Parts: sequence; C-alpha cells; structure tokens
Amino acid sequence: MTDAKPVGEDDGAGDSGGLCAGRVVAVTGAGRGLGRAHALAYAAEGAKVVVNDLGVGLDGAPAPDSPAAQVVQEIRAAGGEAVAHGGDIASSEGAASLVAAAVDTFGRLDTLVNNAGFLRDRMLVNLDEDDWDAVMRVHLKGHFLPLKHAAAYWRAESKAGRTPAARVVNTSSGAGLLGSVGQGNYSAAKAGILGLTLVAAAEMGRYGVQVNAIAPAARTRMTEATFAETMAAPGADAFDAMAPENVSPLVVWLGSGAAADGVTGRVFEVEAGRITVMEGWRPGPTVDKEERWTPAGAGDTARELLARAAVPGGVYGAS
Ligand SMILES: NC(=O)c1ccc[n+]([C@@H]2O[C@H](COP(=O)([O-])OP(=O)(O)OC[C@H]3O[C@@H](n4cnc5c(N)ncnc54)[C@H](O)[C@@H]3O)[C@@H](O)[C@H]2O)c1
Repeated sequence: MTDAKPVGEDDGAGDSGGLCAGRVVAVTGAGRGLGRAHALAYAAEGAKVVVNDLGVGLDGAPAPDSPAAQVVQEIRAAGGEAVAHGGDIASSEGAASLVAAAVDTFGRLDTLVNNAGFLRDRMLVNLDEDDWDAVMRVHLKGHFLPLKHAAAYWRAESKAGRTPAARVVNTSSGAGLLGSVGQGNYSAAKAGILGLTLVAAAEMGRYGVQVNAIAPAARTRMTEATFAETMAAPGADAFDAMAPENVSPLVVWLGSGAAADGVTGRVFEVEAGRITVMEGWRPGPTVDKEERWTPAGAGDTARELLARAAVPGGVYGAS
C-alpha cells in the first residue's frame, strides 16, 4: 500500500479545478443522449474523458458514422481533454480496447460509466429470438465486459500498492425496476444490470472500486418519439426538466472521489430535479411452519401473506 492519496479522493472542488480534476473517465455510448451529457459534465469538472460510441441506429443497426468524435471536439473546444473510442463495448475486443484507450492515452482509468444501449421493443408473443439476444447483449454483456476489463486493471493496480479510488456507474432503467409492457427483453436486461451492480460492489470493494447504478429518464432519441408529451422541451425561461444534462450531475458525483465512504451497491432514480434512492427487494410478511406445507396449505398461507404485504409499484404501460 502506498501513502499517496488516490486521485480525486478529496472533494477536489477547491484548488484542483473541479470535482474530477486529475481523473480519467470512460463513458460508453457517449456520442449522443445521456452519455454525451455525462461526458461533457465530467470534462467540465476537470476529468479527461474517453468518449466511446459505436454509432448505431436506435435499434442497434449499423450506421455510417460514430458521433464520438463530435463530442471529443466539443470537450476540446471548451478547453478539456478527450479521446474518441469507436469500439463495440459488448465485444471482448471493444471492452478491452476501451480500458486500453484510457490507460494508453491518459495513463490511468478512474471511472467507468456503462451507458451504451438500444431498444427492440415488442410484446413477448412477437419478440424474436434475435431481438432478445441483441438487447441482452448490448445492455447486459455491454455492462459486464467493460466492467470485467476495468476490474482486472484496478485489481492489478491495487495489488501493485496503488489502491485506486475507482468508480463504476451502471445504467439501469425504470423498466428494470418495475417492468415495462412491450419491453420484456429490455426490462430483463436492465434488471440483470441491478444484480450485476450488487455483485460487482461486493466483490470489488476490497480493490478500492465502488459500483452504483442509476435509473434515468430524459429526452433522447430513445424517448422523444414514444413519450413526446412528457419529454417535450418547455418555453425558453422554464426549467427543461427532461434535458439529459439534468441526470449527469449525480453521475459525475458517483464517479468522483467525493463519493467515498460506503457509497456503493446502491441504485438511484434520477430525472429532472429529482434524485431518489431505490430500496430494493427485502423480506415482507413471512411465516415459518418448520415442516413441509401441502400445496393447498401453502396457497392459503401465500394469500394471507399477500393480504398483509405492500402492493408493488405498477408495471409501466400496464392498464
Ligand atoms: N432516455 C431515457 O429516458 C432512458 C431511460 C432509462 C434508461 N436509459 C438508458 O440510458 C442509456 C443511454 O440511453 P439514451 O437515451 O441516451 O440513448 P441514445 O440512443 O441517445 O444513446 C445511446 C448510444 O449508445 C450507442 N451504442 C449502442 N450500442 C453500442 C455499442 N455496442 N457500443 C458502443 N456504443 C453503442 C449508440 O450509438 C448511441 O449513441 C441506455 O442504456 C438506456 O437504456 C435511458
């Protein structure tokens, strides 16, 4: 162990020029939407940013250009430092080269923001196996692989006596927390990200890594058509509640050294001016008979327990 304070361990907001001064942050899917807002917000707080984006269509279909270079230009124009990475984060090569881009360009990696993704919405009866696989791949594998490669890097740093103040921010969704009609693949993937977050936080704490997740809501190409009314921008002087930039401040703090002291394994809903800690599955009413139930007896007990249990939040889109 070294006595040196890990980069960004203090609140960093003083002389050092921002909450993330000296930190290197990789954001996946940062060419547009929420990822772009996060990348710009990190740079504004002094971070050097790896801007990843494969540049795909709304359904994951190949598109001609990655918008990552544009975001890099925006960061540089504002006086910040950034580099583009155009790899597919759901591939081993793309995830490994993302971590390598941070280390090779800026000498280190401090924060990983897993954000990239797309949708293939269908009712379950119409959901093709391809649409299931593609959405599970980009969200769930697209979180696991960058996390795995970053974790290997941080474990090696820790074992070499340079325990980092490393941070991971994963991106779940209300669809993962409550379910969403027409989004069986997406809801399952986003719920899987919550489980992955809990395990990663428990496994990686000893190496100086904190892992949290957000469930955001904002106006991006993913939501502006389906939820046009909710997402609409207001008149000039009003608070633009659904701007993606409203989600980024919490993401920046969770990815900074300031989020120390046990801020890990937690899930936050964040939209507009609201931040909510989500309280997850926990035991409700329970009965222990200390011997095996009959099916009918188990049923009677289940009904009695349900009558005493809290009513769960509604599935999005359910009538
Ligand atoms: N917008 C919302 O209200 C909302 C709500 C809940 C969750 N989310 C989640 O937030 C994240 C960002 O969504 P958004 O609304 O900004 O969408 P977006 O479509 O604007 O941005 C997603 C970006 O990810 C990129 N991408 C897709 N697959 C990739 C891959 N394999 N490798 C690298 N980049 C890839 C796309 O090219 C795109 O630029 C997603 O995980 C989404 O599921 C968004």
